[in-house]
Amino acid sequence: MSVRPRVAVLISGRGSNMQALLDAAKAPDYPAEIALVLSNKPEAAGLDIARGYGVMAQAIPSKPFGRDREAHERALDAMLRERDIAIVCLAGYMRILTPWLVNRWSGRMLNIHPSLLPAYKGLDTHARVLAAGEARHGCTVHLVTDGMDEGPIVAQTEVPVLAGDTEASLAARVLAQEHLLYPAALAKLARTVTP
Ligand code: GAR
Repeated sequence: MSVRPRVAVLISGRGSNMQALLDAAKAPDYPAEIALVLSNKPEAAGLDIARGYGVMAQAIPSKPFGRDREAHERALDAMLRERDIAIVCLAGYMRILTPWLVNRWSGRMLNIHPSLLPAYKGLDTHARVLAAGEARHGCTVHLVTDGMDEGPIVAQTEVPVLAGDTEASLAARVLAQEHLLYPAALAKLARTVTP
C-alpha cells in the first residue's frame, strides 16, 4: 500500500470530530493516517479517546507561555515536525493562531466551523442563526488562512433550521453532518498532498 500522509488533529475539548476522523481513517483505502492528537487543554476529553485508538495524544498547554502565543505555537510545531506530520486538522481547537503558524502550514491546515461560511464566523453560531430566523444552517471545512474562520472552502453541508428548533437540537443536526463532512474534506486534501 502507498504511504499515506500523516495527519495531526488539534483539539481543545470533547473531540467528536477528531473521533470521526479516527473512525474514517481505519478504512484501509482512506488516503490519510491520523498519527497525532494535540490539545492546548490537558483536560480535553478527546485526548483519552485518541489514546483508546492507539494514537499518540499529548497536551501542550498554552499557560506556561503566558502571552507569547508564538512561543506556544513553536512548541506545537516542533512536535508536528518531530512526528513527520504532513497535514494539520483543527477540530474544535479554540485558540486563534498567529500568522506564523498559519503561514508555516499554508495549504496543509484545515478547520471545521459550524456555519455556512462566510456567514456566522466566530462563536455561538447556532444561537445566532436561530436569533436571526435563518431557514438554513450548516458546517464548513476550509483551509486556514490569517483571518479567523476565513480561507478557501474545501467542503460545506447545509441543514434546514426547523420550526421548534432549540440551540441543542440545531447543534446536534449540524454536528452529525460535521462528522461526515470532515473525513470527506480531509480525504480530498490528502489526495493532493505528498506525504
Ligand atoms: C465543533 O462543532 C466545531 O465545528 C466547532 O467546535 C466544535 C468542536 O466539537 N469549532 C468551532 O467553532 C471553531 N470555530 P468536537 O470537539 O466534538 O469536535
